[in-house]
Amino acid sequence: MDKEIIKQGAEARLYLGKYEGETCLIKERFVKKYRHPDLDKQITRRRMKAEMKTAARCLAAGVLVPKVLHLDYPAHTLYIEYYANAKTAKEFIQETVATQEPGEAKKILQDLCWRIGVIVGRMHVDHIIHGDLTTSNVLINPQENKYEVVFIDFGLSHYDKGAERKGVDLYVLERALLSTHSEQSYLFDYILEGYRAQCGAEGLLVLVKFEEVRARGRKRTMIG
Ligand SMILES: Nc1ncnc2c1ncn2[C@@H]1O[C@H](COP(=O)(O)OP(=O)(O)OP(=O)(O)O)[C@@H](O)[C@H]1O
Ligand SMILES: [Mg+2]
Repeated sequence: MDKEIIKQGAEARLYLGKYEGETCLIKERFVKKYRHPDLDKQITRRRMKAEMKTAARCLAAGVLVPKVLHLDYPAHTLYIEYYANAKTAKEFIQETVATQEPGEAKKILQDLCWRIGVIVGRMHVDHIIHGDLTTSNVLINPQENKYEVVFIDFGLSHYDKGAERKGVDLYVLERALLSTHSEQSYLFDYILEGYRAQCGAEGLLVLVKFEEVRARGRKRTMIG
């Protein structure tokens, strides 16, 4: 049977399938030949488990994510709720910049980034660290006259109460934005505004850590 491949990456292949008669997304992690088989199995299991656990945690925290429907360890596949009409935030941002007047584009993206910041804040308040925050790991699901913001790809996520890991989460996102949307340097500022609005005083220590991580990153870049 031909599989409708959605994405073929370095870590996993995503294709459409069925679960209990409904269309779903199947995410199949590759076996890494260069790793010892036991270690590879362990890493794959850990990532699959993280996806499932964090998805459940997010839903409990009021963060919209695709439901993980089923987990098949031996086949290293996850069955995930499929958002058929969604596009990635990366595509949405690029299309908005390409098709809207600059002022209008900025307004639309300000709104989106604010919402992304609020959601990251909500995750952090519940001690959920995403681990791989990029605009490819956020989906925009269109609805009549509005859209939902859906977070995906929790393979590197974990639970951590400390401010440091949360600061790193923000730093990873800032780096991703700088490399993917370098012309729209204002995006991250709006994300931080949403984040601050959501986290309040609780977020202050995270923002201090974020500045520290960023300063360390700069130093490393300078030293080379
Ligand atoms: N539930 C979903 N509904 C619709 N599309 C999805 C869904 N999950 C993932 N996608 C699409 O598939 C792409 C890859 O998914 P995901 O990020 O989970 O896999 P990945 O292989 O880890 O990607 P990456 O290369 O970012 O690590 C997403 O960027 C998105 O375009
Ligand atoms: Mg991804």
